Amino acid sequence: MGRITASCVEKILDSVRIEEVVGDFVQLKKSGSSFRGLSPFSQEKTPSFYVVPSKQIFKDFSSGKGGSAVTFLMEHEQLTYPDALRWLAKKYNIEIEEEASSEEADEARNIRESLLAVNAFAAKQFSTWMWEDAVGRSVGLSYLRERGFTEETIRRFELGFHLEGRSSFFDAARAAGYQAEYLVGTGLSIARDDGSHVDRFWGRAMFPIHSLGGRIVGFGGRVLKSDAKTAKYLNSPESDIYHKSRVVYGLYQAKQSIARQDRCYIVEGYTDVISLSQAGVQNVVSSSGTALTVEQIRLVKRLTSNVTLLYDGDSAGIRASFRGMDLLLEEGMLVRAVPLPEGEDPDSLARSMDTEGLQAYLSEHEVDFMQFKSDLLIESAGKDPIKRAELVKDIIHSIAKIPNAILREVYLRDSAQRLGMDERSLFAELDRIRAADGRAAQREQERQQPDGPTLVVASAPVLDQRPPAVEEALMRILLLHANDRITGKTEDGEEFVDAAGPVVLDDLATDELTFSYPVYAQIHADMDAAWKSEERILTSEVFSRHAEPAVASVVAELLTERYALADWKRKNIFVQEREDHLSKHVEECLFRFKELRLSDMIIQLKTELESTEDADKRGQLLAQFTHFQGVRNALHKKLNRVL
Ligand code: CTP
Ligand code: MN
Repeated sequence: MGRITASCVEKILDSVRIEEVVGDFVQLKKSGSSFRGLSPFSQEKTPSFYVVPSKQIFKDFSSGKGGSAVTFLMEHEQLTYPDALRWLAKKYNIEIEEEASSEEADEARNIRESLLAVNAFAAKQFSTWMWEDAVGRSVGLSYLRERGFTEETIRRFELGFHLEGRSSFFDAARAAGYQAEYLVGTGLSIARDDGSHVDRFWGRAMFPIHSLGGRIVGFGGRVLKSDAKTAKYLNSPESDIYHKSRVVYGLYQAKQSIARQDRCYIVEGYTDVISLSQAGVQNVVSSSGTALTVEQIRLVKRLTSNVTLLYDGDSAGIRASFRGMDLLLEEGMLVRAVPLPEGEDPDSLARSMDTEGLQAYLSEHEVDFMQFKSDLLIESAGKDPIKRAELVKDIIHSIAKIPNAILREVYLRDSAQRLGMDERSLFAELDRIRAADGRAAQREQERQQPDGPTLVVASAPVLDQRPPAVEEALMRILLLHANDRITGKTEDGEEFVDAAGPVVLDDLATDELTFSYPVYAQIHADMDAAWKSEERILTSEVFSRHAEPAVASVVAELLTERYALADWKRKNIFVQEREDHLSKHVEECLFRFKELRLSDMIIQLKTELESTEDADKRGQLLAQFTHFQGVRNALHKKLNRVL
């Protein structure tokens, strides 16, 4: 598949009716000029999910999500941007036009498609063998039944059985027309030196491993006998379609539940996932026996930031959970764990109780990573002072991984209390570790980017980073009232009448001011460019269907707030009053905005001054400093007059 052409994207977006798209997933009721329904992203009882056809946006007040039809599909169905467009094209019968792709890309795609086709065939074959073959039923199916898996579960996870024999699968696949090359490529068959082929997974129960989109990229196969001399599990080898470090077992089946519950349980094994899921805890995935990787964590993070580790109670399981925790913390996840009784794994735990009991157990025993780790470490260190000092370091090291400063502080205070230590010495240790980690990270970055560090612009606003209030107010004017009339006085005291958008854009341009909040800065830059080059004011619709989800979502938020809170008509504000009101509001916002930016610049100058020794440079900085302060004082006087 090639890239969708720009004109085709345009065509798709023009045809979309968001109320129809959302209506496929959410029951919507008309409510005034918008539609209302129960949030599909949370479990609410009173509807706080809105779709606004006139703006072609949705806003979910319970989860805070919002955006266009495309954003909705990306969030709800976990689709990529191009896949969401393809979905819409299909719904509206629009033929996808693609840019011609290179032959190499086609070839690589063909290979991957062939490997995926083999795996799809294999999963069906293993399922057929287990349900329909006499040996499959008596050996494979009865094994899975003995483990307590129901038919529904077996079908949901597409479990199957691989018949014994030297090349049963290879022969079946060849007979069905699949080429030996691809059978070997998936690892299902192994080529022998004598030119013959043998099966890799013979005699095993088969666990298909799905991609996030539901295609089978690999298999895990378990021996049925407990006394077997071979490895308990065999897994597909790495291939063009299977990268162990990039798949998360069970994620395909769990994704909706994870997004809804806003939490993901992480376990170690295939059967842990399946048993928990069968027991009603469906938001569960596994890293399948390997240590968690950053790629796996990022896949989960698209669905939730809350994870709970559920690792075996033995020492290997605990060590693995410690390692996983640090990486999760580093990726900004909020980490909890449920300590399991010695000798139990999640699979055995799930089978030992009913759904309610299990859910109660998990929520009652869940502790945050800090408590989990310090409890275990304190227990093992006992009174030995050297071990205790190591333990403190270990815990601070974990805390140092947390990207969010406030959370770091909360955890540090908490651990000081837990360990009975002075906060100040822990903070000092934390600073030391972070400084060292920072230097290491910088060296790493420089090593990877020999051309020097590049500026990284966050594409999505981070949770703890809200825009300054005045930037939000000004952005709202630009998006909602750009074409509304305002009146005012110029610097020379002349009266003017103009639309709010141009007034704001021109004023900011005169002082060369931009927004500090990245998404706003992007919207402002686009608006400014269109205004300067063609005197065109870009409307909010342009941004609410923006390809960058962060932009679409921010715009949706600003737009719906107006619907919910500040509908002029509902408030019975008359046109004249509204014009006066808006005029004053625009003036005030511009003042406040300038004051904020000036303060920023003054602070920056101050720090520069403090670190400059050179007399000439200091003189220059000082002059600038006094100038800005003068401007700010003048601004303050004006501001007081306005208010
Ligand atoms: N694993 C593996 N290869 C092995 C052993 C284990 O790939 N030789 C992986 C599998 O993904 C397995 C996970 O590690 O699910 C956890 O291993 P373990 O706890 O030993 O197995 P269980 O999941 O408990 O499997 P079962 O209940 O079937 O014994
Ligand atoms: Mn087990």
